Amino acid sequence: MDSRPIGVFDSGIGGLTVVKEIMEQLPNESIVYFGDTARVPYGTKSKETVTRYSFQCIRFLLEKKVKAIVIACNTASASSLDSAQQSFDMPIIGVVEPGAISACQVTKANRIGIIGTEGTVSSGAYEKEINVINNDVKILLKACPLFVPIVEEGWQDTEIARLTAREYLEGIKDKGIDALVMACTHYPLLEKTIAEIMGDKIKLVNPAYETAKSLKEMLHQLNIQNKAAKKSTYEYYVSDNPVKFKKVGENFLSKPIPYVEKIDIEKY
Ligand code: DGL
Repeated sequence: MDSRPIGVFDSGIGGLTVVKEIMEQLPNESIVYFGDTARVPYGTKSKETVTRYSFQCIRFLLEKKVKAIVIACNTASASSLDSAQQSFDMPIIGVVEPGAISACQVTKANRIGIIGTEGTVSSGAYEKEINVINNDVKILLKACPLFVPIVEEGWQDTEIARLTAREYLEGIKDKGIDALVMACTHYPLLEKTIAEIMGDKIKLVNPAYETAKSLKEMLHQLNIQNKAAKKSTYEYYVSDNPVKFKKVGENFLSKPIPYVEKIDIEKY
């Protein structure tokens, strides 16, 4: 039993889709969230830069006395999970492995589509994880960079979102895949639009949901769940623009965010 919070970080606001799942699946756990809003997006940056940023985020969360860390960003998980696990004496999980495991369970045709940022798609991280589980699987990758700004604008239910999704997805829809991983934090907010285009024969996999499930298992295995009767607490930190984070974040979480504090991430 351990009542310390879980540390969660992302390049910005998107990791709140993972926070939302943790809140639902692990209501007893407190959370400290850091969104690197000054340096978002990570999806267009090099592996070296994203790894340096991730390590700074982790050092900040360690200062907050967390008991485990979730890299709630596909790009950061793809670039830096392995090196973070080697460098810090702390349980750390990312979103790629849980998403890959679920996709392998879902596919019957052994054909999986992966959509994400340019960084995630070019990293090869999902292929690596999927092939460890089943190397007969054929993987189709597609970077959908415009999805992030569309969601950040709150335009997920607009004609712009539908047209953009059609442009990106028509080409992979008829390639025989029966599972599609929404391998970017923002994409679950476009789930309805993506599902409409892909049709009901292609199952959508949400790594945010799977990550909360994996976190639950990990806390149980390490026996560090919070079993105290006290109500869980949620703290939010960003590296820039707390007002925008609060406004857009409430849309992601579908609940009020009472307070957001700005910190200087370059100090870490
Ligand atoms: N959080 C990022 C991801 O899941 C999307 C936004 C970005 O590019 O930083 O890949």
